[in-house]
Amino acid sequence: MECVKMSLPELLVLCVLTGAADGYYNYRWTQCIYSSPDLSDMVYIEGFYFNKYPFLKFNSTVGKFVGFTEFGVRNAEMWNKDASILQQARAQVDVFCRPNAKLTEAAVYNKTVQPKVKLSSVMPGDNTHPALVMCSVYDFYPEPITVSWLQDGVVVTSDVTSTEELPNGDWLYQTHSELEYTPKAGQQISCVVEHASFSKPMIYDWDPPVPEFEFNMQLLFTIETAGLVLGITIAAAGFLYYKITSAGLKRSSY
Ligand SMILES: *[C@@H]1O[C@H](CO)[C@@H](O)[C@H](O)[C@H]1NC(C)=O
Repeated sequence: MECVKMSLPELLVLCVLTGAADGYYNYRWTQCIYSSPDLSDMVYIEGFYFNKYPFLKFNSTVGKFVGFTEFGVRNAEMWNKDASILQQARAQVDVFCRPNAKLTEAAVYNKTVQPKVKLSSVMPGDNTHPALVMCSVYDFYPEPITVSWLQDGVVVTSDVTSTEELPNGDWLYQTHSELEYTPKAGQQISCVVEHASFSKPMIYDWDPPVPEFEFNMQLLFTIETAGLVLGITIAAAGFLYYKITSAGLKRSSY
């Protein structure tokens, strides 16, 4: 329970009440909101809530406390008259928000982790069905990422299905994208990953596995060739043996 700033009698009473009454929840929520990398648009918000409802807020853009209930309005008036409370609240943008945001930027947001990219066959495809290939992008940070497909150097927009960026739960993310395509001889399919951890888009070429049918044909052909070579060798050896022995026989018959 955060009661540091609740030194005024009325809020102090509320704090004590919170501790005693089950089912009621009194809290103070401070926020530092910004979007600009140089932190120039930093806004400090300090809200006081009873159960889910805010009854008093300080917004650094407004520069003073604003009450939303009778109790909140009364406290806002009192705090706005107190130069030291007001000054302290107004200083939070520089004293609290910006230094902490700088630390967080350096420790978290400016860090990147390169993804591991894996291409795999979901469906090999045949005469009647298109092939399905998946580009899995694992363990990257931060979350924003773009995964796209190239077919013979041209960006493919249709027949692509992608998942959201899925949090692993360890600060890292993963995402998966599938492309449906009709296999053609000599075609080049690539998965393109764009991420803050890379200085340029990374291209991963898809090397489709040799279809089972073709593999078997190759195997069959190899076996056939080996058999043929063996057969010819045996036949030649036999013929040679016959020639030598028949020649010997002839010679011995002289
Ligand atoms: C703070 O005040 C500004 C100016 O009135 C307003 O635009 C902004 O939405 C307020 N922020 C919050 C979080 O209430």
